[in-house]
Amino acid sequence: MCCSTISSISLEEVAAASAGPLWFQLYVYRDREVTRDLVSRAEAAGFRALVLTVDTPHLGRRERDARNRFALPPDIIISNLEPYARAQATRWDGPATFTDYIHKQLDSSLTWESVAWLRSMTRLPLVIKGILTAEDAALARDHGAAGVIVSNHGGRQLDGAIASIDALPDIVDGLSGLMPVLMDGGIRRGTDVLKALALGASAVLIGRPYLWGLAADGETGVRRVLDLLRAELELAMGLAGCPSLAAIPPGLVKRRVL
Ligand SMILES: Cc1cc2nc3c(=O)[nH]c(=O)nc-3n(C[C@H](O)[C@H](O)[C@H](O)COP(=O)(O)O)c2cc1C
Repeated sequence: MCCSTISSISLEEVAAASAGPLWFQLYVYRDREVTRDLVSRAEAAGFRALVLTVDTPHLGRRERDARNRFALPPDIIISNLEPYARAQATRWDGPATFTDYIHKQLDSSLTWESVAWLRSMTRLPLVIKGILTAEDAALARDHGAAGVIVSNHGGRQLDGAIASIDALPDIVDGLSGLMPVLMDGGIRRGTDVLKALALGASAVLIGRPYLWGLAADGETGVRRVLDLLRAELELAMGLAGCPSLAAIPPGLVKRRVL
């Protein structure tokens, strides 16, 4: 599981409640000491990898959130950042305050040197999330990344950005197996997992599906989502004649040229 920096539950609590392998998703903050401390805490809590999200130098314009007057209950806070709370900076009453908070904290001047800086301070493998081109995947590798996550943030950042499944093949080709290429965005069915694997993904991640499970039936709902995806993938593999993940042929997906 990959736990977000802006989780409402602290990374230490998540680690204490989890038996499985954990990765910690990190944003680089203007205050580099906050970033440094978050990395140390993730290491101390037993997280096995850091996932640096690079597609959020600014928060995207989420018109649906505005239209729906989306607001979080005031008692939901960014627990991980509480220790660094500058007065009420980590608390917010609604989307306006939350957006302001994120705008203030995210470092929009992030460069590849920032990645090298992060690499130099941790022994954990660093995975770069939010890669959509082969050039950036190569740069990630040159700057010490252990892997990349092909992602457009679930389409929540830049309207019109390429779909991650469309960006995936070039990135896989460009890296020629030199490091793992994971992807997320739009994985809703086991057949979507199969397609991503056939197009060269080492693994996929999900964002909204587990949240829907959580909303429908709490922990049981999340389990159900994962069980469904696994069962659908296994059935799809069986029907496509693939007895193992390694046996999924690249030619399984035919790309229609328009
Ligand atoms: C409610 C919500 C919160 C998210 N928060 C983060 C986050 O804190 N950090 C991050 O890197 N990505 C975040 N994402 C993006 C997801 O990590 C992921 O890239 C995306 O949801 C995948 O697409 P999917 O929802 O279609 O599976 C968030 C997505 C959603 C829906």
